[in-house]
Amino acid sequence: MDINKIQNLKNQAISSILEAKDKKELESLRIHYLGRKGEISKLIKNLPTLEVVERKEVGNLLNDAKMAVEEAISSRLTSFVSRITEEGNWLDVTAPGEKSPQGHHHLISQAIREISTVLEKIGFIRVSYPEVEWEWFAFEALNMPQTHPARDDFESFFIDQKPHSRLGKIVITPHTSSGQIREMQRTKPPIRMINIGRCGRPNYDATHTPTFHQFEGLVIDEGINITHLKGILEYFAVNFFGPKRKIRLRPFHFQFTEPSFEVDINCPLCLGKGCRVCKSGWHELGGSGMVHPMVLKNGSIDPEKYSGFAFGWGVERSYAMKLGLDDIRPLYEADLRFINQF
Ligand code: FA5
Repeated sequence: MDINKIQNLKNQAISSILEAKDKKELESLRIHYLGRKGEISKLIKNLPTLEVVERKEVGNLLNDAKMAVEEAISSRLTSFVSRITEEGNWLDVTAPGEKSPQGHHHLISQAIREISTVLEKIGFIRVSYPEVEWEWFAFEALNMPQTHPARDDFESFFIDQKPHSRLGKIVITPHTSSGQIREMQRTKPPIRMINIGRCGRPNYDATHTPTFHQFEGLVIDEGINITHLKGILEYFAVNFFGPKRKIRLRPFHFQFTEPSFEVDINCPLCLGKGCRVCKSGWHELGGSGMVHPMVLKNGSIDPEKYSGFAFGWGVERSYAMKLGLDDIRPLYEADLRFINQF
């Protein structure tokens, strides 16, 4: 008898058993191979007609094939373990489940986490300060007198019409810089603060939304100078935006820092060469500078002994620069067609 035929029969039986869809199909396969007139049974019945020498070898092979097929049938049968659902339908509990859709954190939350992680790695300590603030913390203590344009009704969301106390009116925190003073009052140098918070200003266009977030870094210690500021900003640019990204400092004016700089990042598309999107090769991210001595005094820190730097950037704008978005408004529009792309 052809030994290969027995081997092929066994393989063919096992592969059909593995593909069987239900118990009924499995039973007809059992009958086909192992039933009284089944393919394997027929060969076994034929054994006595073989020469004695051949009979032993073929007998062993057929026995082995029979056992393998029986085993395959029994293990396939256990995979059909079924139970009845409440509605009375059969449910195959071994069938692969349906994957439920998985969401992700909102892009702004992702941005906040990434920013915190990069800065916490080098010793910044994350803090949070109020989302509504007294004028004194938001403006006065930061050298922004009553006549400063940012204190105009058109530039900030005031909650009160009249001052409440010597701390002035209540305003929706217009920038996280108010946290500088709160942090100086809460603790003593050395200070390494990262304050991430929600801010509000009445603006709306591709790069401004009425609600937005800023992250504010503040470092105060003895002997802090501009090289420390530049080093930290360069570290942040490479670790948050990627190895090919660079920042540049442009002289600017803020009331609470001296000297002050605007910080730009090279365009994600042309890397600073200048293209249709960025024109100049650079995009503005936020402000920075050396903390003004008056601000240190307002925070009860001796400016003769200590110096410091601060930076305050937009979270949404920074993430837009990372992802290559030219409009931050979709971040607040809850449009899943936009959000699900990330
Ligand atoms: C300030 O708010 C300063 N407090 C920054 C600062 C901190 C300077 C520490 C020096 C030291 P400015 O108004 O330029 O600066 O805002 C900083 C950044 O916040 C902007 O570059 C932008 O990224 C973001 N930003 C400001 N207004 C909005 C807005 N309406 N929508 C979205 N992002 C905004």
